[in-house]
Amino acid sequence: MPTSSPSRIVRFASSVALSALGLAPALAQTQPTAATTLTVQVNKPGAPVSKNMYGLFFEDINFAADGGLYPELVKNKSFEIPGQHFIGWNAIGGAAALAAYTVSSEKPISATNNHFVRLTAATASPDAGLINEGFRGMGIKQDAEYTFSVYLRRGPGSVSGLQVTLEEEARRGAGPEVAPSGRVLAQTTITGLTGEWKKYTAVLKASGTAPKARLKLTLEGAGTLDMDVVTLFPKDTWNKRENGLRTDLVQLLKDMNPGFLRFPGGCIVEGRTLTERYQWKETIGEVNSRVPLVNRWNMEFRHRSTPDYFQSFGLGFFEYFQLSEDIGAEPVPILNVGMACQFNSAELAPITAAGGPSVSEATGHNHADDDPTLETFIQDALDLVEFANGPASSPWGAKRVAMGHPAPFNLKYIGIGNEQWGPQYLERYEPFAKAVKAKYPGINIVSSAGPAPAGDLFDKATARLRELKAEVIDEHYYASPEWFRQNVGRYDNYPTTGSKIFAGEYAAQTVGIASPDNKNSWDTAISEAAFMTGLERNADKVVMASYAPMLAHVDAWQWTPNMIWFDNLRSYGTPNYYVQKLYALNKGTTMLPVQRADNGKNGQDNLFSSAVADDKTGEIVVKLVNYSPQARPVTVNLQGVKKLGKTGKATVLASNDLNAVNSLDQPRNVAPKDESFKVGSAAVVTYTLAPNSFTVLRIPGKH
Ligand code: AHR
Repeated sequence: MPTSSPSRIVRFASSVALSALGLAPALAQTQPTAATTLTVQVNKPGAPVSKNMYGLFFEDINFAADGGLYPELVKNKSFEIPGQHFIGWNAIGGAAALAAYTVSSEKPISATNNHFVRLTAATASPDAGLINEGFRGMGIKQDAEYTFSVYLRRGPGSVSGLQVTLEEEARRGAGPEVAPSGRVLAQTTITGLTGEWKKYTAVLKASGTAPKARLKLTLEGAGTLDMDVVTLFPKDTWNKRENGLRTDLVQLLKDMNPGFLRFPGGCIVEGRTLTERYQWKETIGEVNSRVPLVNRWNMEFRHRSTPDYFQSFGLGFFEYFQLSEDIGAEPVPILNVGMACQFNSAELAPITAAGGPSVSEATGHNHADDDPTLETFIQDALDLVEFANGPASSPWGAKRVAMGHPAPFNLKYIGIGNEQWGPQYLERYEPFAKAVKAKYPGINIVSSAGPAPAGDLFDKATARLRELKAEVIDEHYYASPEWFRQNVGRYDNYPTTGSKIFAGEYAAQTVGIASPDNKNSWDTAISEAAFMTGLERNADKVVMASYAPMLAHVDAWQWTPNMIWFDNLRSYGTPNYYVQKLYALNKGTTMLPVQRADNGKNGQDNLFSSAVADDKTGEIVVKLVNYSPQARPVTVNLQGVKKLGKTGKATVLASNDLNAVNSLDQPRNVAPKDESFKVGSAAVVTYTLAPNSFTVLRIPGKH
């Protein structure tokens, strides 16, 4: 198991250096004080804007799933983590009051959930029990209700019950021992124990708010008690679902009106080894039967090591589809192409059915097929389409229906491979894509151009994928803010026919890729806003785009920057979030060309612009980025506009400080502000852009 990834850092460094390679001419830095005149050619509309612009990239990195979007509060609820059955659990007082606590598999509750904890107390004691620490603590809200449930089986002795206490810890001492109990937030006792496994449920109502509470479970009486599947789940979830998602985070996503949701990643799709790859079939069905798997980010970076990072799969493929539906986003699952992460083991599944790769046995994960050939991966993809779209009479469609979703999810896209490169990818992609198309011609396939946005591997992959008539090519770029501004014209010369582009992962990095010192500064966000004018101008080529990664826990992250940060109770959107949101809410329906009167290129003098018509609202939408410390007057001519209104709305995202960031305590330090403005009668708008600003003008008018 790799504990760090120097090759990744080298790769990132080389990617950051792309701007230095002169991919785009440096733009002039001088700032004119006279108004710059821009003409929006309203009477020469361009391509329709893809309805999938702009979307979301979700990966379980930075505790984005367990401990984040998926609000189960108990870490390692089923004691199933191979070799580490007690992760998240500690004996009170260092086990002094318990004669023993062991993991056992003697007559488990099921064949898949085949480990449980056996607690034995020689004498009755209020300290005979275990504490679950949650995911960097448990976020508890006053007056909120939490459903506690557990499977119990009484053994020898006279244990009469299990006391359940939701509490804070008292101030911790210097040593590693479990801190003594502090304020009690809720308490109940489970009674009526029998000699057979039985599920017990109780609702706990919190008497106070605590960002880092914990769950204490203690035996009443002496003897032995078997315990499994301990869960504590907030009642307040999105749509009040039993296995639902964290409301504040889903709200932030829904507020963006996202065009799609890409899931489950990211490198997590690939796994460090093929055994550790993401297998969607292991993530559906009864929640408590889903077997946990190591999270490939747990030890990826030595500087941000999180050895307790596993995937419970409580948030699995059914829940991802449901989330997509809830927030109105097209689901875009990305599947393993038969390759483990090339930054790690780079294991390959053989293309023919004969033989198999040597795969890691490190996790002992319960997967059915540990020696997969490419056919296994292809079959998984075909079955996924059936799971999402198939009728109740089909084997996989029946599983969706059994999970409570009779209607199809209407899946239209699948990604084949995440961020793969080299001939190994292309030779797997080709038969894979052919097989999917043969069975499901209507499914659009997303293919990978690799981890860097330029270079030999990128060029070869792109050329071959275009030859193969790939529908959508996924490009990734993590680079400096300058790179984003300098590459605003990246897509101007891309072919207008053939493969379309999915800007599937991008984010400006203040220091360098994978540096723990990267910040979600205004400089990164405004530079992304500048770059995105280039995406919008090339609506005929770029059909999907998503910032990455999406979510990060402030106490448990591995990678920065990220779009949304959260702790156990609060969350906030970064300036980068607001840029994405403004693009998504103002994507319009038809691209409109924009020209400068001085014939300057987009980005010249650090002024960036693009425009769309919104046929749904009857407005012209102009996006303007002023990357300069001076206010900047602009004159916008709306050439050939019809039905011009008198008052427009400007939404401005600005800060004089390029280093400005948002935080849990100052979530709207850099956030959009609305104002109205008058529209000149001669179809001219004069407007002064604030220093270092991203402005969206919405002007009543039609093409
Ligand atoms: O977004 C973080 C990682 O960056 C993704 O998992 C991977 O696809 C890329 O290298």
